[in-house]
Amino acid sequence: MAEVNDYHCPVYSTTDLPPAKRAALLERPVKSSADILSLVSPILSTVRSGGDDGLRSLVVKFDRCQPATDPAFPLTLTAPFPDELAKIDPKVKEAIDVAYSNIKTFHSAQMQRESEPIRVETMPGVVCQRFARPIGSVGLYIPGGTAVLPSTALMLGVPAQVAGCSNITLATPPRPDGSISPEIVYIAQLTGVKTIVKAGGAQAIAAMAYGTESVPKADKLYGPGNQFVTAAKMSVAMDSGAKVAIDVPAGPSEVLIIADKTADPTLVASDLLGQQEHGLDSQSVLVAIDVDDSYVNAINAAVEQQAKILPRAEILRKSLSQSFILKVRSVDEAFEFSNDYAPEHLLLYLENASNTIDKVENAGSVFVGPWSPVAYAKQYSGVSTSSFLKHFTSQELSREGLKLLGPYVEILADVEMLGAHKASVSLRLDKIKREE
Ligand SMILES: *[C@@H]1O[C@H](CO)[C@@H](O)[C@H](O)[C@H]1NC(C)=O
Ligand SMILES: *[C@@H]1O[C@H](CO)[C@@H](O)[C@H](O)[C@H]1NC(C)=O
Repeated sequence: MAEVNDYHCPVYSTTDLPPAKRAALLERPVKSSADILSLVSPILSTVRSGGDDGLRSLVVKFDRCQPATDPAFPLTLTAPFPDELAKIDPKVKEAIDVAYSNIKTFHSAQMQRESEPIRVETMPGVVCQRFARPIGSVGLYIPGGTAVLPSTALMLGVPAQVAGCSNITLATPPRPDGSISPEIVYIAQLTGVKTIVKAGGAQAIAAMAYGTESVPKADKLYGPGNQFVTAAKMSVAMDSGAKVAIDVPAGPSEVLIIADKTADPTLVASDLLGQQEHGLDSQSVLVAIDVDDSYVNAINAAVEQQAKILPRAEILRKSLSQSFILKVRSVDEAFEFSNDYAPEHLLLYLENASNTIDKVENAGSVFVGPWSPVAYAKQYSGVSTSSFLKHFTSQELSREGLKLLGPYVEILADVEMLGAHKASVSLRLDKIKREE
């Protein structure tokens, strides 16, 4: 049994795990979504019916931005953004520039493939194609609050820029003095953002989904957030009046680590904690293959040692209790659990980790081997340019193509009892016959 301390993850083992407990471990520690939806829906309607005035009142109330009480306070910044709002430490600037260039290179390579139309002649004279076009107006949500998140801004801004979206809007909570952190403004400049919205939470999502006098309406919304942001995204996506799409609802952040005894407990502990730092509803799971109690104790000891001295120790102490360590007997058993859990981030700390990728069925992104911490590698994966593209297909039949395919279409239309469909084919086939 692991030593019980304030900062530790509960430990389970598949050797004595009842099926009901296994099912419970696959659940996420999420609070009641009905409660959250009932809190979010008045916020959405305030923005929808009140526009800028509604948004302003919520920015005062929920983003705790006093300057917004002044009706002259601008709720948005419009490009080009003044350089003095983007003044940052040269070291930070260099780090952002390096990350920007790497992410852009990766997405540009993806884009080359994505933007190439697919053209297939499926039968003689029957040509089907698929084309990609950028989504015109996109809204990126960058959470704020206690942490500044330049990597999230890069992760979303770069693929939107590379995909060629014309109108990129970025929303992030203002600081108490009403300003936006200069790192975010700098990244907005780099990635071609047109509008920065000084709002957070459900009110920011509502403003971009419905549009206000100063906030452009977006066609699709992206980005992570807390449960309120996620609930707001899901609500606007279901509102047919909003005509807005969303990326996969970014639920609570989570990581699952598969490790064997070759994995260094100190590194494993650091990744467990890195995930927990995101907040109370994030979850870390360690699936440990064929390890004994002393290994598990070493992990929990490293967790405690590192957690105590981190700036967010209080958040960590609370959130660690809803994470856990699961001991399994084999590599296959580990992947079986992981695939059932379907983690957002999957870390493989295994001997010959890259040989095991074939076993991954369900995961957002996979980090292979001990030198790929999520904090860094996350910037290079996750959201892809294809999320910022819409696809459409075309089909073109020649006379010969229709003569070949038409009779089959008539048969299927009969089966489906679609008389008008059938007639549209039959009339054309008759015409061809008459002309020949
Ligand atoms: C970009 O925004 C402008 C102003 O709202 C709008 O007129 C234009 O159609 C948008 N472009 C695209 C491609 O959606
Ligand atoms: C790892 O790869 C090496 C060399 O290919 C091999 O000898 C070893 O058995 C592998 N270990 C495991 C656990 O698969």
